[in-house]
Amino acid sequence: ATSIVACGSKEPAETPGAETPGAETPAATETKEITISTKFVDDEQTAISLKKVVEAVNERSNGSLELKLFTGGTLPIGKDGMEQIVKGSDWILVDGVNFLGDYVPDYNAITGPFLYTTFDEYLAMTKTPLVEELNAKIEEDHGVKVMSLDWVFGFRSMMTKKPIKTPEDMKGLNIRVPTSQLYTYTIEAMGGNPVSMPYPDTYAAIQQGVIDGVEGSIMTYYGTQQYENVKEYSLTNHLLGVSAVVISDDLWAELTEEQQTILSEEFEKGMQDNLAETIKAEDEFADLLKAEGVSFHEVDAEAFLKAAEPVYTKFDNWTPGIYERILEELEKIKAAQ
Ligand code: G3P
Repeated sequence: ATSIVACGSKEPAETPGAETPGAETPAATETKEITISTKFVDDEQTAISLKKVVEAVNERSNGSLELKLFTGGTLPIGKDGMEQIVKGSDWILVDGVNFLGDYVPDYNAITGPFLYTTFDEYLAMTKTPLVEELNAKIEEDHGVKVMSLDWVFGFRSMMTKKPIKTPEDMKGLNIRVPTSQLYTYTIEAMGGNPVSMPYPDTYAAIQQGVIDGVEGSIMTYYGTQQYENVKEYSLTNHLLGVSAVVISDDLWAELTEEQQTILSEEFEKGMQDNLAETIKAEDEFADLLKAEGVSFHEVDAEAFLKAAEPVYTKFDNWTPGIYERILEELEKIKAAQ
């Protein structure tokens, strides 16, 4: 994995207050460096879209901001990445919404198994007052500012050595999951043995026989070349792969209004780019995976849906009634779409 520093960034100006013709802001006398840490490898769409954000922000801020992107989990990700945000480091973390669930457990409820059948349903959910309340809570209680919950990378299914059709087929299989209760409970309920580890460790873990497979999206399967290890893709579509973009409130408050605007606007553009490219790539990547010898399998969807139902009763730290509220919101969303 590499650190990508956008080529467009400019050196700080020598003369304080000097204007660069055509630039949006005067050339900066001080540069604020911000690290972006993510699990995605350079070939994955999320990393590609993030790289564009880095280049655009560094260019547009005229040297006052210098984002540096660290891909493939080179720097702390997941729980450790969130700790950097909570303690106020000059960081942006791009990782699973479930890691916000470690601080405000209801985030797990909005990303639970088999909740959504389209990206649009989830994207509409993130705009509801219910989710806005969660974002306000994590900011107030933990100093975490949620810039986005919308960096989708596809529905997650099973990549294993043998095909899976029913929950019985999952028996005895060690399946890697992110370090998250939501994922652990879901895979357990679906019949497998969840094994938590950061994604970058999975390639070797499969080869060493520590795990029998992983669960993830087509984007992950192709982008991380996991098809070199496992060739069976069973379409459980059990969870939506989606990243949050978070920054510390303290860091945000240090930025000028203009810097905040640049960051917000460019991350929004990056999210849209990631979404459009992901939608485009999914079919193409399915064909490329087939060309690599991967077989796709339909599963007994009803059996998996039923098996996963108990996951929604397992979290005693969720706000009482949250699941019912989510279902109500989802009904409204479906009626409107
Ligand atoms: O590169 C890893 C990414 O595609 C998926 O990571 O942890 O959500 O399974 P994770």
